[in-house]
Parts: sequence; C-alpha cells; structure tokens
Amino acid sequence: MSGNITLTMIKPDAVRNNHIGGILKMINEAGFRIVAMKYTKLSSEKAGEFYAVHKERPFYGELVEFMSSGPIVAAILEKKNAVEDFRTLIGATNPANAADGTIRKMYATSLGENAVHGSDSDENANLESDFHFSKVERF
Ligand code: CMP
Repeated sequence: MSGNITLTMIKPDAVRNNHIGGILKMINEAGFRIVAMKYTKLSSEKAGEFYAVHKERPFYGELVEFMSSGPIVAAILEKKNAVEDFRTLIGATNPANAADGTIRKMYATSLGENAVHGSDSDENANLESDFHFSKVERF
C-alpha cells in the first residue's frame, strides 16, 4: 500500500526514559494503525547501514553510536498520507523547534537524542520497512 505507510523507531533515549507507552498512545490517538512492531537493538553496523545516507555528515559517528546504545522499538504505521502526517505528529528534528503537542516537543531532549524517527519519503518508508521487517511480520 505505497503512500500509506511510514517507518518509525522509538529511539534509545525515549526507551531509557520510559516513554514507549506515552509515544505509542500519541501514535494510536493520531489514527495510525500498527502494521508491524518489534523491540530490538541495532548493532553499530546495522545502525550505520540504516543511516548510510548521512555517512558524510559530521554527526554520523555520534548518530550511529547513539542509535546502537540501547534497545529501540521499530514499527510500520499505516494511515492515509502516513509519511507527511507522521512527520507533523513528531515535530521538527530539533526539539527546540518542535511545535506544541508534537512527540518531540513532549519527549525529545536534544537534536541528537530526539526520541523518534519518521521516514522522510514514501520511497524511504518502504526501504526502511524492509530493513526492519519481513513480509510475514506484517499484519
Ligand atoms: P532522524 O529523523 O532519525 O534522522 C537523522 C537523525 O540524525 C536525526 O533524526 C537526528 O537525530 C540526527 N541529527 C540530525 N542533525 C544532527 C546534528 N546536527 N547533530 C546530531 N544529530 C543530528
């Protein structure tokens, strides 16, 4: 169902701070359906692979280290206009700029440790969903 899914990760900071429940509640209340979900931990190799698009950026090493520093929750979410609507729900990448009522405004602590990931395009939503989930893990 291209265009109707996005991939999220509840990042290690939000897991450590016990915000899994609060974030999932906001996701459900915003009308997203959970297609797939897992509690897992990325190795530094897998985190590097997931964020390979940022390889040349100065923050890449820090990002990979952080994303492999503890468990995450990965999920595929379904809704009409999922990518754009989820990015509205999570708010700006830097929580200092995130609007009131967004997940990052509520739960993120810094630009690097910003509580949640959301796909930035339909193409990446599909690639990122395939990164975390096989077909038989989707319902
Ligand atoms: P995310 O939406 O998961 O996609 C890439 C991530 O890189 C982003 O969230 C931030 O957590 C992180 N990021 C972006 N810019 C910076 C930065 N300047 N310093 C550290 N981390 C960053």
